[in-house]
Amino acid sequence: MLYLIGLGLSERDLSLRAFELLRKIVNIYVDTYTNYFDFDLLWLENELNKKIIPLSRNDMEKNPTFLDIAKSKEVALLVSGDPLVATTHTDIILRANKMGVKTKIYHASSIYSAIAETGLHIYRFGKTTSIPYPEENFFPKSFYDVIVQNKERNLHTMLLLDVKKEKNLFMNPKEAISILKEIDKNNNITDIIVISRISHENQKIIYGDIDKLIKFENEYYGPPPHTLVVPAKLHFAEEEYLLSLAEIHKNSKNK
Ligand SMILES: C[S@@+](CC[C@H](N)C(=O)[O-])C[C@H]1O[C@@H](n2cnc3c(N)ncnc32)[C@H](O)[C@@H]1O
Repeated sequence: MLYLIGLGLSERDLSLRAFELLRKIVNIYVDTYTNYFDFDLLWLENELNKKIIPLSRNDMEKNPTFLDIAKSKEVALLVSGDPLVATTHTDIILRANKMGVKTKIYHASSIYSAIAETGLHIYRFGKTTSIPYPEENFFPKSFYDVIVQNKERNLHTMLLLDVKKEKNLFMNPKEAISILKEIDKNNNITDIIVISRISHENQKIIYGDIDKLIKFENEYYGPPPHTLVVPAKLHFAEEEYLLSLAEIHKNSKNK
């Protein structure tokens, strides 16, 4: 049996139901690569009096020995946020099914719902996309098409930022905004919302003109993880909420 258990967005978001289950399980692993991961799980190890084994990308994708163990034993895989908000975990469930291993999901708080702390109405978000790191001779642009299509339908776009754990690279807002500026020759993107470490003590929500936000150094945005939103035309209730809660750097009205 394989349990995929959401840790939620911050260190002690784990549900009581999941915590009680973990008390009974010996083989506990944690995915440290699909998100920027800086949770200190020592408190959980101490509470459970068990070791939690970190898994790399290789352990998760190429050599998932935890799945072999799950054929005969109960195994828990801890995931930051919600376990189903990363396609890696749906792949793991499919692999488990093919091996005859049963799976069960314990949901948790996620960037997908926490994004509503911006004040933007959750049902006004269009397709989500990710900004990947450009590589040598490869500058992916499909995320930009998603922004344009969402804008055409007057929908907000949530942009997740690339995580390359094996190279210790976590895209920061300055890099992401620079990539957007470079690609947006038609100036379709006027405003940006930057969400930093939502659900943590030092969370930040910053809203402003892209030309203003690009001038800030990363220190201003704070440590990762970060998400960007390209807003559609704001509903007056969204605007009121956002303007009252975010740090604002704007000249123009939202278009
Ligand atoms: C592959 S997604 C994994 C999401 C996670 N499973 C969840 O349910 O929240 C990772 C991306 O989500 C965003 N993210 C995750 N946690 C965040 C947080 N606390 N604040 C802002 N963005 C976050 C970042 O863009 C990060 O690169």
